[in-house]
Amino acid sequence: MTGEQRPAVPTAVDIREVGPRDGLQIEAPISTAAKRQLLQALARTGVRRIEATAFVSPTAVPAMADAAAVAEVVQEIDAGRAAGSPPISWSALVPNLAGARRALAAGFTELEYVVSAADGHSLANVRRPTADALAAVAEVAAAAHEAGGRCEVIVATAWDCPFDGRTPVVRTAELCARAVELGADRLCLGDTIGTATPGRVIDLLDAVRAAVPAVDVGAHFHNTRGAGLACAWAAVTAGVTSLDASTGGLGGCPFAPGASGNIATEELALLLGDSGVDTGIDLDAALAAAGLAEELVGHPGSSNLLRAGGRSRPRGRPRS
Ligand code: COA
Ligand code: ZN
Repeated sequence: MTGEQRPAVPTAVDIREVGPRDGLQIEAPISTAAKRQLLQALARTGVRRIEATAFVSPTAVPAMADAAAVAEVVQEIDAGRAAGSPPISWSALVPNLAGARRALAAGFTELEYVVSAADGHSLANVRRPTADALAAVAEVAAAAHEAGGRCEVIVATAWDCPFDGRTPVVRTAELCARAVELGADRLCLGDTIGTATPGRVIDLLDAVRAAVPAVDVGAHFHNTRGAGLACAWAAVTAGVTSLDASTGGLGGCPFAPGASGNIATEELALLLGDSGVDTGIDLDAALAAAGLAEELVGHPGSSNLLRAGGRSRPRGRPRS
């Protein structure tokens, strides 16, 4: 295949840093002050989007109980950033209208509303089946729009469910189409339990794009089985320009047995940057944030790049 025949890889990708939400939700709660440190470190990396917290039931996810306080921290960080710094789009995840109202009242205008494509995960995660969670896109999106905001629908278990097995491609594609009809501004396909592989990523993206040709579709991969970065690259070569990742590779869904960390932000930034795809992320700052994240949660994450101490530096003299 010649260069001319090869599909163009996007020149820029927006990484959404989900460490403060997906990374921390599975951990024992850390203090809001510790979250402030992490959010500040992440804001210094140059990342353009940060999912700061989730307005979910504090009983369901104790680590997100301080969501309103985190909203204040975000505002303080924004106010303290140097004039002319590139803006950060902060967002919050919500599981229902009550969460959307809390998030909007706290000042977030970018909402991520989660709908599981599989009933098994939907019932475990938000205690209602997919059809009911999907129908509620209408009220969540309307609330966001009334407040001048936007609503992204995150499709959890878009490829596979820990309870129901494979999610049929057509089921996820139809869900995406309906979510857009009900008011979703954009979509994100979530590989909640890290089982996707590049071929299946392309297949689902093709189907979803055919179902909602005019809508921005991002992707969210977990590295549970080692294929996370390969899936991310497959998505990028298929034209995806929005990818979720978590600092230090922390994370996982507390309501999906066997779930583990997201792809690591610093690894994705290296992979994309070295491949000529701009992310705006400074690798050293991203590594510093990942190191801090590990320190704050009190255990190592799953970032190979952090373990290696950063970008490889050849030691000794090269062989001639
Ligand atoms: N934020 C805070 N509290 C909430 C809430 C929200 N978004 N939604 C409901 N509640 C409260 C209700 O006010 C009620 O409080 P009360 O007992 O003091 O009256 C209580 O939670 C139960 O409300 P109900 O509507 O019956 O919720 P539920 O028990 O069926 O739980 C969810 C449903 C969606 C709130 C809960 O399952 C949840 O938060 N899931 C999120 C899971 C998650 O974060 N997964 C990882 C990210 S995908
Ligand atoms: Zn996730």
